Amino acid sequence: MQTLKLIENRSPYFIKFELPNLEDIKKLVMQIKTATMKKDDGNLSKTYSHVNLDPIDGQKIIDMFPLSKLYNFDADRVALFITPAYGGGGVHKDGPVLEKGTTGPHNISFNIPIKISDDKCVTKWYDDQTFEKEKIQHSRYSRNVFLDFTNTDKFEAKAQTIMDANNVLFVNTEQWHSFYNNSRHTRIVLTLRLAKQERKNHSFVSMANNLIDNNYLVN
Ligand SMILES: [Fe+2]
Repeated sequence: MQTLKLIENRSPYFIKFELPNLEDIKKLVMQIKTATMKKDDGNLSKTYSHVNLDPIDGQKIIDMFPLSKLYNFDADRVALFITPAYGGGGVHKDGPVLEKGTTGPHNISFNIPIKISDDKCVTKWYDDQTFEKEKIQHSRYSRNVFLDFTNTDKFEAKAQTIMDANNVLFVNTEQWHSFYNNSRHTRIVLTLRLAKQERKNHSFVSMANNLIDNNYLVN
């Protein structure tokens, strides 16, 4: 795999890096979005919406993503993450607990910027101790400990970041995290997840170490 430029390493929370063909990926995603999403736009949530792309389109995007030479990604789980003005997500980990019929937890996500209009959407990570006394509320897509994303300042964040239009964010989705788009602009991010059979073989930290130790990500 080609060498990619590492922008910021905040392992075990997130790593920011550059993608040489980001503009080509954005162009393809916008074409797919325009072709497939018109009918659904009216149904989008006021907090955030998760829109899975057709797996045939998803595979095209995976094939353009350089890290797909190292890891298998899930073509059924290439999704647009659409956060409208003043939307967001409370403190959660991605994916449900592993039960029959569910895909189980996600360990990581690669978040590719599609439409980022400003620097007002902040994502924060917390450690496990902060929420160890909280009861976990389970949903089909996530495990939640605190829902009010506008009111997370009372918790100490271990890391926080703002996505920009030029860099990919590799995130640890098995650490508690939240996000708040305190902006009048909608934010659109494309998320890539590991193939189901790959998830048990990797963690954020093992992948981060592999990418850095083998010089796939270089300062
Ligand atoms: Fe998440």
